[in-house]
Amino acid sequence: MQSHKGVQRARVENIRTLLVVGSGKGGVGKSTVSVNLAVALARQGASVGLLDGDAYGPSIPMMLGVRKRKAGQGAEVTLPLAQRGKPTPEQMLTPLPRYGIKIMSVGFFIGEEQAVAPMPDVLGVFIRQLLYSVDWGVLDYLIIDLPPGNGEPQATLCRELQLDGALLVTTPQDIARIDTAKALAMFREAGVPALGVVQNMDGFLCPHCGERVEIFPRSREVREQLDNLPLLGSIPLDPAAALSGDKGQPVVVSNPESPVSIAFMSIAEQVKTIIETQSITIVNQEEAVPMKVNEEGED
Ligand SMILES: Nc1ncnc2c1ncn2[C@@H]1O[C@H](COP(=O)(O)OP(=O)(O)O)[C@@H](O)[C@H]1O
Ligand SMILES: [Mg+2]
Repeated sequence: MQSHKGVQRARVENIRTLLVVGSGKGGVGKSTVSVNLAVALARQGASVGLLDGDAYGPSIPMMLGVRKRKAGQGAEVTLPLAQRGKPTPEQMLTPLPRYGIKIMSVGFFIGEEQAVAPMPDVLGVFIRQLLYSVDWGVLDYLIIDLPPGNGEPQATLCRELQLDGALLVTTPQDIARIDTAKALAMFREAGVPALGVVQNMDGFLCPHCGERVEIFPRSREVREQLDNLPLLGSIPLDPAAALSGDKGQPVVVSNPESPVSIAFMSIAEQVKTIIETQSITIVNQEEAVPMKVNEEGED
């Protein structure tokens, strides 16, 4: 349990690192980043789960080639929303394996044609309960792809789970950067470490001449908080990335040598380094205490 401003938060059993991918704005590439980061981490040897928490536009199943009807479970399953903590073994759901990662989506519980999604504050409780209801096994990383915004369900998740870090996805535009800075402020306020920024749709690499073309006007907005975060990667627009998403195969699988995929592999390495460095710091602090006691004892 971790305490922030007197709030006790639960760690999810067997999950070493719980990360969220967020942004203030929709359509900037959160799901694309979540999927490719998850698969990239798995390709680098980590055990990875991916939870699609975007009930308003659940796109992870489609990006990984899963259709709800084929998922086999979900529609008939009801989550015990009133219950907190771990469900009974009969209530546990099996995640779907895809490209070496384990996936689960709130979309499995909401009809594709259903116009009405749960209210945002209920959604936070729903995502938390879904997280506890999946038999993930032991995971090095669980990534939650969040809906856009900085209200609910983010607030509930930040309050009730011990999140190890947030990645912020933005495009170079003013409007996206302003909204992403707000999302960053929300994570900071909740005590969730912001690991860094992924700048997506950053220019277009012409497939004919290889020249980089700027699509969005360069932001002249200075967002100091955002600018001070590590830039984990800059991902160009690439038609192959969009096509891969639609075809249900992440670009790191379909075009592993493309600049976009290389950027995703590098982001995964940096995330791993940041997380491992953080845990080394904690281990060292813990070790420092008994050593000091021993020294005093010897005196
Ligand atoms: N770097 C990129 N190059 C080309 N298309 C992209 C790129 N990043 C995202 N897209 C496409 O843009 C759309 C929105 O991306 P998505 O990841 O769904 O955004 P979000 O989850 O933030 O709403 C999708 O169709 C996706 O395939
Ligand atoms: Mg999305």
